[in-house]
Amino acid sequence: MFYMAAPQAKGKSAGDNIFAANGRAVALAKEIGEENVVNATIGAILNDAGELVVLDVVKKAYEELTPFEWASYSPISGLPDYLNICMEECFGESRPEGYIRAVATPGGSGAIHHAIHNYTAPGDEVLVTDWHWGAYKTLIDDPKRVPGFYQLLTADGHFNKESLRTEVRRVLKKQNSVLVILNGIANNPTGYSLTDDEWKEAVDVLSEEVKGTEKKAILLPDVAYLDYSGERQASRRFFKCFGGLPQNVLVVIAYSLSKGFTLYGQRLGAMIGVTSDKDVAQEFADINQYASRATWSNCNTAAQNLMIHIYKDPAKAQELIEERLKYYRLIQDRAAIFMAEAKEVGLKVVPYVSGFFISIPVKESKKVSDFLEKKHVFLVPMEKGLRLAVCSVPTRKMKGIATKVAEAIKEAGIVQ
Ligand SMILES: Cc1ncc(COP(=O)(O)O)c(C=O)c1O
Repeated sequence: MFYMAAPQAKGKSAGDNIFAANGRAVALAKEIGEENVVNATIGAILNDAGELVVLDVVKKAYEELTPFEWASYSPISGLPDYLNICMEECFGESRPEGYIRAVATPGGSGAIHHAIHNYTAPGDEVLVTDWHWGAYKTLIDDPKRVPGFYQLLTADGHFNKESLRTEVRRVLKKQNSVLVILNGIANNPTGYSLTDDEWKEAVDVLSEEVKGTEKKAILLPDVAYLDYSGERQASRRFFKCFGGLPQNVLVVIAYSLSKGFTLYGQRLGAMIGVTSDKDVAQEFADINQYASRATWSNCNTAAQNLMIHIYKDPAKAQELIEERLKYYRLIQDRAAIFMAEAKEVGLKVVPYVSGFFISIPVKESKKVSDFLEKKHVFLVPMEKGLRLAVCSVPTRKMKGIATKVAEAIKEAGIVQ
């Protein structure tokens, strides 16, 4: 083969097993009818009629934008009002103590990109949980960093702080700093959420491992699904434990409007830095603005102004909260149907608390999903199991899925 790509780009391509499984489901639905297929691959909220949910308050706010508000450039770091609202919206009543700065990014992905770019060096290992969103590996691999893994859960289904400690210690023996990504609230793909105490444990592990050394630790809480993780203020309480950090521990929150505002395709979010050191905060704002200039320049002005419109009107802000709650409940109801049936048929499931996805731990997940697809049920096969997107399966189709998964596992000759 003749290559034009530079050496570091040669041979790269991002295959996507989610879109592949979705493609098979859509093709079959065309053939045998929508009603006869369960497509649990799509990571966006679909209502019970199978349509993409776009929050009404968001739709209305879009219509109100003036041409200037949607067409003009915004500052590279983001509109100041937008950034302030992001911080308020992210933390709610639980703003941690410290210096806090925000920089606009195209979704949570942009925040993760910049954190890897600016807080690790080529060749560094970046730690992610064993159950993780597949794109992390691409985000880490592309700039020539290496993914390392710690276990999300203990055998009895709680946050595995000792695994985090072991891996942080191992990495810090060879590196001066460690970046730890933790999608610890309504986790993709499991729906596990750390308790407030478990978040504190994660922070404590990092603080203890760098204490009295020149080493540094950066924790990246990925809160992409925050708005579907439970009661608004209670689910944000864990942010408090990012207050009063040691100087050599930095928290970089990857905040996203994709799910919370149903603005997936508008590509907007923010990275929010929390530190006890004023200079580290200024450095955070400077280096990430610089990296934005060097990559995507500025972010979507329309979506920034849309958020400003909603928050400047308390009635709209309240409407947003209520609409989200409605969809949080819809997803919870769907999940409850699956979880109850899984229990009945003895199907093991990773502890689910909230969020778009449920995971079924199983070896040879592709083999199992092949059997499942013969029953017209489409889940995403991953390294450690199958991912079921409860966010996108109509409630009436939830019954029966757990039974079919248990059957497919049996037919594939696998013991869970
Ligand atoms: C765990 C997780 N983090 C971050 C993201 C980033 O999404 P976006 O870049 O659209 O904000 C996603 C999207 O699917 C996700 O699942």
